[in-house]
Amino acid sequence: MKEKSIELLNKAVADELTAVHQYMFFHFHCSDMGYLPLSNLFKRIAIEEMLHTERLAERILFLKGEVEMIPSGPVKKIHDPKEMLLLAAKMENESALNYNLWANECAKNADSASKKIFEALVEDEERHFDQFDTETENLRKFGDNYLALQSIENSKAISSQPLTSQQNQ
Ligand SMILES: [Fe+2]
Ligand SMILES: [Fe+2]
Repeated sequence: MKEKSIELLNKAVADELTAVHQYMFFHFHCSDMGYLPLSNLFKRIAIEEMLHTERLAERILFLKGEVEMIPSGPVKKIHDPKEMLLLAAKMENESALNYNLWANECAKNADSASKKIFEALVEDEERHFDQFDTETENLRKFGDNYLALQSIENSKAISSQPLTSQQNQ
């Protein structure tokens, strides 16, 4: 029973690590292209996925297992914002489906604490899905204007930054 929970928790760790890597990759590229709000969104969600990894790891150690820090797959080198959002939404959807199934499996094995962790994660992944889905919808509706707005936000942020001491001189 314990072994099954540890196996499922480690599968979740693998998916969370993949999400952290993928979203940080997207964050770097959106930032490089000057799409500030999108770049911030990927970073914020990557950090949430890292915190998910931590919760799963704590439970694995409590059950006297080992945390297998192996991502489930390589980072996909996608540079198009629309493709990024579609992949991210797909990943969230799959995680929510898996965690629902794994919560049920933990319940069957009388491990309600692991079940609760999976259920809490489902809520977060559904929220993430919704955020990525909203952005996909915005991009579909507004097209190039959406990306232009992202760049404008970036310019605004740069222009409102305080002057460094060197620039002050
Ligand atoms: Fe997650
Ligand atoms: Fe997520």
